[in-house]
Amino acid sequence: TDKYAVFGNPIAHSKSPQIHAAFAQQTGEDISYQAILAPKDGFKDCLADFIAAGGKGANVTLPFKEQAFALCDDLSDDARLAGAVNTLVVGADGRLQGENTDGLGLVADLRRQQVDLQGDRVLLLGAGGAARGALGPLLRAGAHISISNRTHAKALELAALFPGSPIVAVDAMAATRPFDLVINSTSASLQGEVPALAPAAIGPATVCYDMMYGSGCTSFNSWAKQQGAAKVIDGLGMLVGQAAESFELWRGVRPEVEPVLALLRQQLN
Ligand code: ATR
Repeated sequence: TDKYAVFGNPIAHSKSPQIHAAFAQQTGEDISYQAILAPKDGFKDCLADFIAAGGKGANVTLPFKEQAFALCDDLSDDARLAGAVNTLVVGADGRLQGENTDGLGLVADLRRQQVDLQGDRVLLLGAGGAARGALGPLLRAGAHISISNRTHAKALELAALFPGSPIVAVDAMAATRPFDLVINSTSASLQGEVPALAPAAIGPATVCYDMMYGSGCTSFNSWAKQQGAAKVIDGLGMLVGQAAESFELWRGVRPEVEPVLALLRQQLN
């Protein structure tokens, strides 16, 4: 049995053990996957212990993604662009490889929901770690991205990370016509808030995506529906999607997202 784990603080709420157990059952892969609560100042030691005990790979969540990035011997392009690592692969030679599958999980979930992204005008709300992780995969999918953030300077900084790419920093309050897709990467929904955004940004063909999820509709998605959005999607599919990408990196087999997503959705409601 190969050992995997997710490290975070807090970690009790994590759905990753359940998701990976379901993937393992589905694919017949012989793995174990546990949740490990690392002390806020003890991620490095915790991870070293896990690897010494034979750990083959791990997911990393809040607040350790940047620390994981700093610890890796090798980094994928997406991890480097994101400045954060959510997936660790322990090589046969002991080298630690860092990946970031969050953005790929997002794009996979959008494609699953018939959002193709090629040539689409995308408004990305927020300029934190979640936004940064999404940019590379969104660009590769052919999106034209406008980033808007409460603190505008951070949106400018993110846009500057991708010189020559179709990314601009904008003020979403000044939008005058609808986008094809609006993605909320801010944590505003956690406080029941909606990031500043002109209603004109949303039209009858606009798809809205909130990276957050919960038992009901998120505050952003409720607001977007009221504005007449064509469709609203929450981040549960992105969660399962990033896990599927990690699982494939570790095991070389692609699990099916749909049945696991249906199960989680059922538990949530
Ligand atoms: P994460 O890694 O989840 O992206 P983060 O790096 O702390 O977390 O970034 C949080 C993002 O949500 C930021 O873009 C933040 O805006 P600021 O840069 O201005 O802080 C945004 N955010 C959080 N609460 C918000 C709110 N109530 N309204 C609008 N934006 C909010």
